[in-house]
This record gives sequence, structure tokens and C-alpha cells, in this order.
Amino acid sequence: MADNLLTIQHVNKYYGDAHVLRDINLDIRAGEFVALVGQSGGGKSTLLRLIAGLEAASDGVIAQAGHTIDGLNGNSRVMFQDDRLLPWMSVQDNLTFGRTNNKQRRAEAQRLLHEVELDEFTDAYPASLSGGQRQRVALARALMANPQLLLLDEPLGALDALTRRKMQELILKLWQERQMTTILVTHDVNEAVRMATKIYVVKNHEIAWSGTNNVAYPRTDDAIAPMASEIMNVILDGHVDQ
Ligand SMILES: Nc1ncnc2c1ncn2[C@@H]1O[C@H](COP(=O)(O)OP(=O)(O)OP(=O)(O)O)[C@@H](O)[C@H]1O
Ligand SMILES: [Mg+2]
Repeated sequence: MADNLLTIQHVNKYYGDAHVLRDINLDIRAGEFVALVGQSGGGKSTLLRLIAGLEAASDGVIAQAGHTIDGLNGNSRVMFQDDRLLPWMSVQDNLTFGRTNNKQRRAEAQRLLHEVELDEFTDAYPASLSGGQRQRVALARALMANPQLLLLDEPLGALDALTRRKMQELILKLWQERQMTTILVTHDVNEAVRMATKIYVVKNHEIAWSGTNNVAYPRTDDAIAPMASEIMNVILDGHVDQ
């Protein structure tokens, strides 16, 4: 399909004898917000690493914008649960990677830090920031150079509930403004249904369920409840307390 950004065909991944991804097939459209949910150990992070080109599939093809991913995927950026900021560099230098003499990069960093509401922290060091602030720096860093594909691996997992909700809103705002294709890995089914336009359940190393969510934003708890409960049923094999 013409507006597919990412195509995953018959992808398998083995670690030794362990078959951690089984015949994965996905078509992800440009501008879509995809969530991958499922139990621990199902293979979600592995799939994200394959898309980022941090590891190779055992077989099958992953292509982005018509190009097979072979080695590091330069048109994607990943954000992890830990911020992975460089402690010896200021916030701004973490974004520009120390190339503060490059005017264009510095201006882009300033713009992004403004978008994540960290203007005052440009010259601060990561150690002096809260966990939520550090994740906002990591998000801004991931958006430097406007990647075609943003890959988020449980980026909000370590945040308290309120900060997490605010970060969800911020990510959605940036996604809507920039229309960047986004793939979010999360354990949190409500988070997936609140944020994503397309949701996949990864279960027993396969895609067990997929659904499209066209509910308008912002989504209320009532609006997300039916799909969230359907997904919980899939994940827990119907053993869910209603
Ligand atoms: N580098 C590796 N070497 C060997 N086994 C691995 C490696 N990386 C992941 N695995 C195994 O692959 C399986 C899938 O792991 P993965 O991290 O993708 O799961 P996940 O769905 O992201 O889980 P979680 O929700 O806990 O983050 C697990 O059984 C894990 O032990
Ligand atoms: Mg994981």
C-alpha cells in the first residue's frame, strides 16, 4: 500500500533455541500511533529493537519507506524506560550532542526544549532534574532531526501516575503536531487504548489480536473502557474479573 511507512513480513527471531518472535506480519501506515501490548517476555522489546535495526531478524523482512532495514535504522529514534542521558553534558548538549557551535542544531534543541516545557533547564545537568523532566529531555532528544519513526519502549514505566498522564498528553500533542509515525510498547492496556490509533497484542511470541481505535482525543476513561477490557480478555485468556 502506498501510504505504508513500515512493512514487516514473516519475521522470526530466535535466541538460541528460544523462538521469541513467530511469523510477525505488520503494515504500519504513515502517521499512525501504534501500541504493542502484552505480557512480560512476549517479545515486544525485541520487535522494537529489530525495527530500530539494533538487532537483525533471524528471517523475514522489515522495510521502512520501501527500504529494507539492514543495520541501524537511521530514520528512527528509540526512547527507553531509562533516559540514557549523558550525565556530564548539559540538557542542551544532550540534544546537540555537544555540538553547541552548530547554530541550527542549537536552535532546534531550544525549540524542542520549549515544546517539552523545559526552557529553564537548558543549561542544567541531568542529575539536577526529576525523573519526569529527564524523560522529557529524552523525548526532545529523540525528536531532534525529526525522525520518520519514533519508537517508545515503556518510556513512562518509571513515572508516578500523574506525571505519566501528563507525559501521555505531551506525547500525543507532539504526535498530532508532527504527524510522526509512533510505536509505543507498554504493559499498560489503558495507556495503549488512550493513546493509540492501532493496537496489537503480542502474546506467546505472536500477534494475537489487533484493533483500530478511532475515538476522538482526548479519550475519557469511559470511552476507552470497552476496548481495554476486550484486550485484557485476550491477554488473560478470558480470566478477567469484570
Ligand atoms: N539478547 C537476548 N538474548 C537471549 N534472550 C533474549 C534476549 N533479549 C530478549 N530475550 C528473550 O526474548 C524474550 C522476549 O523478550 P522481550 O524483552 O522482547 O520481551 P518484552 O515483551 O519486551 O517483555 P517486557 O514486557 O518484560 O519488557 C524473553 O524470553 C527474553 O528472555
Ligand atoms: Mg520489553
